[in-house]
Amino acid sequence: MKTILRWSGSKTRLLPDLLKSKPKNYERYVEPFAGSASLFFSIEPNEAILGDLNTCVMEVYQAVRDDPTGVHETLCSIPKTKDAYYMLRGLSPSDLTRLQRAARLIFLMKACFNGVYRTNQLGQFNVPMGDKIYSLPSKEELLIAQSLLQRTQLYNQDFSKTTALCKPNDWVYFDPPYKAVKRYRGEYGYESKSHNVLFDELVNDAQRLAEIGCYVTISYAFDEELIGKFCGWNFLHVNARRSVSGSMKERKLAKELIIQNY
Ligand SMILES: C[S@@+](CC[C@H](N)C(=O)[O-])C[C@H]1O[C@@H](n2cnc3c(N)ncnc32)[C@H](O)[C@@H]1O
Repeated sequence: MKTILRWSGSKTRLLPDLLKSKPKNYERYVEPFAGSASLFFSIEPNEAILGDLNTCVMEVYQAVRDDPTGVHETLCSIPKTKDAYYMLRGLSPSDLTRLQRAARLIFLMKACFNGVYRTNQLGQFNVPMGDKIYSLPSKEELLIAQSLLQRTQLYNQDFSKTTALCKPNDWVYFDPPYKAVKRYRGEYGYESKSHNVLFDELVNDAQRLAEIGCYVTISYAFDEELIGKFCGWNFLHVNARRSVSGSMKERKLAKELIIQNY
């Protein structure tokens, strides 16, 4: 199935290559940097773990798991207009119920510029509206997502806590945030670790998981240094169309890597 959220770092364009490199006999799927979890929704695993540091994202999955009809009804009650976008954007999430927060985020992401999630230092969503409102998930799609999410453990936490739960034969897909091309403006929340710290931990974690018998897949922008850290692993070079500065003009083919231990 398709993702529920529109998400600028989504791996929808890499899906054909990621699907081709799916391990044959894994038991459980684990995605510690879930975002819109495009690979998860595409493979519909029998058992899974999704984790993300972003509380709003994980709340969407919890709300759809617990009450997809309620999420759908709340989404339907939102007028599909620019005024509604800015009215919703201006609301304080803490004044809303979890269900309302989930519907608000699904709507904002479908309508915001480039599907970028970004907040200011006070945690207020500050992305302007884009040029159209993409189609919202139907009730049927939310019901299918519910059945998938009911067999999935959901965690709002740092990736290292999610990988601590892994066991042999898990398929762990790491899709970490890419290093900011320009100034970092809170795209991954201000509580996220510095990029270098995150990467050192990720490399250690990936190697530890490989040693205990997990299937490990990492996708990232082409990076010589990263290749050097995974001696003996397999590398697939992919050209994916990616917006490098948020502008349509600068949307170009970028070199991506899929790194695997199997
Ligand atoms: C490139 S996106 C993942 C996109 C996802 N694969 C998809 O298909 O939409 C990276 C995600 O990592 C999350 N993130 C950033 N730092 C994190 C951390 N330290 N631990 C867990 N998640 C983190 C961000 O909130 C974001 O959702």
